[in-house]
Amino acid sequence: MRSKRIFFTPLLVLVLCSGCAVALYKPTAEHVSPDTTLEELVEGRRLYVSNCSSCHALRLPEKYDEETWRKEIDEMGQRAELDQDTKALILKYLLHAPRHP
Ligand code: HEC
Repeated sequence: MRSKRIFFTPLLVLVLCSGCAVALYKPTAEHVSPDTTLEELVEGRRLYVSNCSSCHALRLPEKYDEETWRKEIDEMGQRAELDQDTKALILKYLLHAPRHP
């Protein structure tokens, strides 16, 4: 019995962690404002997950205010070697996060 638990614990950790990205809100029509479309937000989320999780855990969009994200996306965009379009889409996604008080 004991050896079974040793086997399953890492498995459980793995399963729980693959759910991490789920905490990042998924854009819906209610997040869309005049300066963006749903497609852009969906693409921004995809780019954020694929470009920004290789060196550290993804930060939740609501963690920083707009000014901080603008600064971070410039610094981190350099590290991740992103072009302007990719940075702009990621920034759109980050700034349209539902803000939890
Ligand atoms: C090449 C590695 C690398 C990539 C790719 C990368 N980062 Fe970072 N990032 C770092 C390092 C190193 C730090 C500082 C150490 C830490 O906080 O983990 C950091 C810190 C941060 C912080 C916290 C800054 C603070 O003051 O607390 C944010 C926010 C951030 N990154 C966002 C991003 C975003 C958005 C992307 C995608 C565009 C990204 N990172 C991609 C290496 C990277």
